[in-house]
Amino acid sequence: MKAGAGLFSALALFLLIGAVATQRGRQPKKPKPSRRPPTTRRPPPITRRPSVPQPAIPAQPEPQEPTDFPPPILGPPSIYPDCPRECTCSPSYPNALNCENRNIRVIPVIPSRTYYLYLQNNYISEVTAEPFNNATEVRWINLANNRIHRIDKQVFEKIPALLYLYAQKNQLNEVPSGLPASLEQLRLGRNRISKIPAGAFNKLENLTLLDLYNNQLSDSDIGKNTFKDLKSLMQLNLARNTLKKMPAGVPSNLIQLFLDKNHIDDIPKDYFGGFTHLAFVRLNYNQLSDKGVPKAVFNVSTLLDLQLAHNQLASVPLFNGHLEHLHLNHNSIESINGTQLCPYSLHADLSDHSVVPRLRYLRLDGNHLSPPIPLDVIMCFRHLHSIVI
Ligand SMILES: *[C@@H]1O[C@H](CO)[C@@H](O)[C@H](O)[C@H]1NC(C)=O
Ligand SMILES: *[C@@H]1O[C@H](CO)[C@@H](O)[C@H](O)[C@H]1NC(C)=O
Ligand SMILES: *[C@@H]1O[C@H](CO)[C@@H](O)[C@H](O)[C@H]1NC(C)=O
Ligand SMILES: *[C@@H]1O[C@H](CO)[C@@H](O)[C@H](O)[C@H]1NC(C)=O
Repeated sequence: MKAGAGLFSALALFLLIGAVATQRGRQPKKPKPSRRPPTTRRPPPITRRPSVPQPAIPAQPEPQEPTDFPPPILGPPSIYPDCPRECTCSPSYPNALNCENRNIRVIPVIPSRTYYLYLQNNYISEVTAEPFNNATEVRWINLANNRIHRIDKQVFEKIPALLYLYAQKNQLNEVPSGLPASLEQLRLGRNRISKIPAGAFNKLENLTLLDLYNNQLSDSDIGKNTFKDLKSLMQLNLARNTLKKMPAGVPSNLIQLFLDKNHIDDIPKDYFGGFTHLAFVRLNYNQLSDKGVPKAVFNVSTLLDLQLAHNQLASVPLFNGHLEHLHLNHNSIESINGTQLCPYSLHADLSDHSVVPRLRYLRLDGNHLSPPIPLDVIMCFRHLHSIVI
């Protein structure tokens, strides 16, 4: 009676875990955060194919108010005659230009040897082409946390090898036009973007990360051709916008789709049908109810992590046996039926691992449920490490 013994120990484990409701702080192991572009210390190597990064909200120091004084001149002139006085040029990193945190309002002339350009945490309000006239080698620009409301499209004609453009936390009203086809990562989160000009993302065949988090995008801004050319896109972050519908035309190679904090109340029946690698879907803080969630819409075999917290679901949606993490906390769920939920038959052969659901982490707190966890749930999900009720 191998099965009986296993079931008994699983039961003991679950009763224990179920009783400890304080587990809610415990999070599943997250994929490693993305490498942030280092600043003064160490320019990164150029990576052509970064592993899928987690969207990290960089914790940047708030700059003080700008002063009428020019940027501080630090130390003696650089050994590089072309180093702008308001920046530093380290002999150890001849391809990096460090101009961050300097009270800068006008971008200085960028030396032609620059690959890595750090301009974050300043008071820049416009990006024009002139400073880039000779900067054809630039691969990486960090403009985060400035006051930029305009990036001239001629800028990008000067820097055709650009791979990373970070311009989060600025005052842009629209996605910049003329983005170079070489681009791999584009971060435009925390702006005021309410417009994506037609063709803005055309030809960006190598873009892997597009972050439009915390802007003012609505359904009408995203047409079925908006993302059409983004054949390499792995991560799309549209969280904290004002979408009511699932975005149209999302590229089928996507791995991570983040849509938290929108007003989505409905998912089309075959929405996830065309994706081949989709593994992480976040729809926390939307307006999903049972009515807007077709029965098997999340039965996607590539999905590993599904987050549906803070919605209005009354029942647990069906999911695939491959799913590992499921967040359903803070919905209106009143009961769970393990027999209906189980992706495989409860009577399947216990030694056949292909029919054991892979679910390891389940959050159900903030619903109308109370322990104990039903026996059929325990019998089905034998890999569950934690369940929070
Ligand atoms: C542009 O770069 C070239 C070669 O790197 C250099 O000779 C020239 O002086 C630079 N021009 C300006 C305006 O910096
Ligand atoms: C995209 O990446 C490939 C492989 O690194 C490269 O050969 C190609 O030129 C890139 N495309 C563009 C438009 O830069
Ligand atoms: C879920 O998808 C699997 C294939 O991955 C399929 O065998 C199964 O019948 C589907 N379940 C439902 C309820 O649609
Ligand atoms: C769960 O669902 C199954 C099959 O639909 C049903 O036979 C069973 O009575 C349900 N269990 C509970 C506790 O409602």
